[in-house]
Amino acid sequence: MRAVDLIAAKRDGGEHAPGEIEFLVAGFVAGEISPEQMAAWCMAVVLRGLTDAEVFALCAAMVASGDTVDLAPVGRICVDKHSTGGVGDKVTIALAPLVAACGVPVAKMSGRGLGHTGGTLDKLESIPGYRIGVEVEEFVALVADVGCAVIAQSRSLVPADAALYALRDVTATVPAPGLIASSVMSKKLAAGAVAMVLDVKAGDGAFCRTVDGARELARLMHRIGEDAGRRVFCEITAMDAPLGLAIGNALEVAEAFAILAGNGPADATEVVLGSAADLLALAGVGDPEGTVGRAVSTGAAIAQAERWIAAQGGDPAVVSRPWDVLERAPVRQVVTAPRDGYVEAAHALAIGLAAMRLGAGRARKEDAIDHAVGIVLAARPGDAVTAGQPLAEVHARDAASAERTAAEVAAAFVIADSVPPPAPLRIETVGTIAGRV
Ligand code: URA
Repeated sequence: MRAVDLIAAKRDGGEHAPGEIEFLVAGFVAGEISPEQMAAWCMAVVLRGLTDAEVFALCAAMVASGDTVDLAPVGRICVDKHSTGGVGDKVTIALAPLVAACGVPVAKMSGRGLGHTGGTLDKLESIPGYRIGVEVEEFVALVADVGCAVIAQSRSLVPADAALYALRDVTATVPAPGLIASSVMSKKLAAGAVAMVLDVKAGDGAFCRTVDGARELARLMHRIGEDAGRRVFCEITAMDAPLGLAIGNALEVAEAFAILAGNGPADATEVVLGSAADLLALAGVGDPEGTVGRAVSTGAAIAQAERWIAAQGGDPAVVSRPWDVLERAPVRQVVTAPRDGYVEAAHALAIGLAAMRLGAGRARKEDAIDHAVGIVLAARPGDAVTAGQPLAEVHARDAASAERTAAEVAAAFVIADSVPPPAPLRIETVGTIAGRV
């Protein structure tokens, strides 16, 4: 078998046999297939696509390139979640302890943010002492003993994806549904959880701009998971406006814990409680909505979050008194409504990019981030506002960046004369949950 023939076959619209895909992945990881050839193959895939059978084979070959986590020592069904990423998406930080408080262990490996979307690891690192670099053995022990763990993706898992994703990043070959689905799902399958909820974001601030694109990605990821014997449920959720009010690492940590205390913004709370109930249902827990609601109202979710943060080296006081622990940015600047009306849009992409330029995110992988800075919305789409009323507050390191960001945030808001039609947050789902109507 020769790589050049496989590239030509895909270029001409052919379908690979599973063994051919294994040859490409294993050869690339071993350095026997050059990055130039692999990039050419990826471009052929972007243009020609992959069949479902090819996607399954690609995902399996990537999983086989490294270790896999054995969560059997936990002794119970473990669950995981994934989000394709958005602006203000702090769901994991609230969801993991909430689900664990309901008796279902959560084993989650996360990534860093890039561009306008934030990453869970960056957010958690705003908690002084929080350890993300946990070895797999300790990860499993944390899940078993504490009920949840959120750590950095282990390097020993799916090395093929790390190499291939880096190559795709610099060769304009990221946007192919089959490559994205196998990349995401290879990491989820290797991380060991039996059941998982995948939140596929759709909209201006998301990887998938359209619901059709999100549906196709969700369908593929769902099929990969089911083919591998996992229980997978996908939710397509809106990402036209930031999720919740806070955008920025420490600010989002504080908001995530407010959700657990029942004091979070309605939209982010809806996603967290909805995904938590779906995870419980996947794990076979009866009355999932009621169980989730009780974990919040009794304080069990807060207590679980404190145990989790302490077990990973952070100060558990961050859960109930976040601003005793987290760093606050020194400069604030309020953005006000230019006129009376209704907020028609608060564009997620523009606000995410403004937060990134402020220092809350990174344009390139090697950039440092400032955990304290960010943007807190004071108005959301659908809200009535009067001229001069706050739309948002910028939390900045200095006056110049506050000024610049305030102008960018102001430009991201659209104020209209009439109330915009309500848009659903949880748009649709892909997959079914046994025993649930
Ligand atoms: N996220 C991933 O993990 N992989 C992709 O290919 C795209 C987004």
